[in-house]
Amino acid sequence: MDHLTIIDKAAKYVKHKLFDFEEGGHDWLHTFRVWQTTRSLAMHTKCNKTVAELGALFHDIADAKFTNGDETIAIKQTEDWLQQENIEKNIISAVVHIVKHVSWRKQYKYDAIDYPELAIVQDADRLDAIGAIGIARAFSYGGFAKRPIIVPSAEANRLNDMEDTISHFYEKLLHIKDSLHTEHARSLAYERHEFMLQFLNQIHKEISSHDN
Ligand code: ADP
Ligand code: NI
Repeated sequence: MDHLTIIDKAAKYVKHKLFDFEEGGHDWLHTFRVWQTTRSLAMHTKCNKTVAELGALFHDIADAKFTNGDETIAIKQTEDWLQQENIEKNIISAVVHIVKHVSWRKQYKYDAIDYPELAIVQDADRLDAIGAIGIARAFSYGGFAKRPIIVPSAEANRLNDMEDTISHFYEKLLHIKDSLHTEHARSLAYERHEFMLQFLNQIHKEISSHDN
């Protein structure tokens, strides 16, 4: 099967599976954005475009946050679908490698030169976690997980240091720009990072009036 046919078929399959996903930050449209960003990063990087695009399409097919931590489901669903389409074995293992290691939580260490397809899918996924879209996704997930938006310090003790979504910016989102592998992704991250800083500044300003 040629590149366009297989990518088109995979996109239809993933879209069908993720279309009305229970959490808006990990739905088909997240995957769609990661796929499109991957395509544009692939234009600037020497890599196997079929592997990169399939990796982007399958990267959140069954995120462990929504499967009680079971990481084998995503791998099995990816493998099953690609095998059923008679995709070459080396392509299947490269795509599965992406699905296995793309997540921030895993902190998988590797050299981007060795795995350029993983590097660009990971960059594309991380770019979608920052900027205006990243802010929207954080609060979508925070709502899904029933986390408060922001706990003013005057209330922090009473709420027993309950973790708010704003903490996620300091724990992860503000570190993303320094974790990117490709030059092109870094150039796209700059404005998004600045926008998050501006947002955090503003929300603290608004909330601080309740802290007196
Ligand atoms: P990865 O798939 O790289 O491990 P996650 O799935 O944990 O990353 O995160 C994807 C997005 O989900 C984050 O960028 C963020 O928008 C949202 N998210 C994850 N954990 C939290 C959290 N504790 N609070 C708010 N948003 C979160
Ligand atoms: Ni993702």
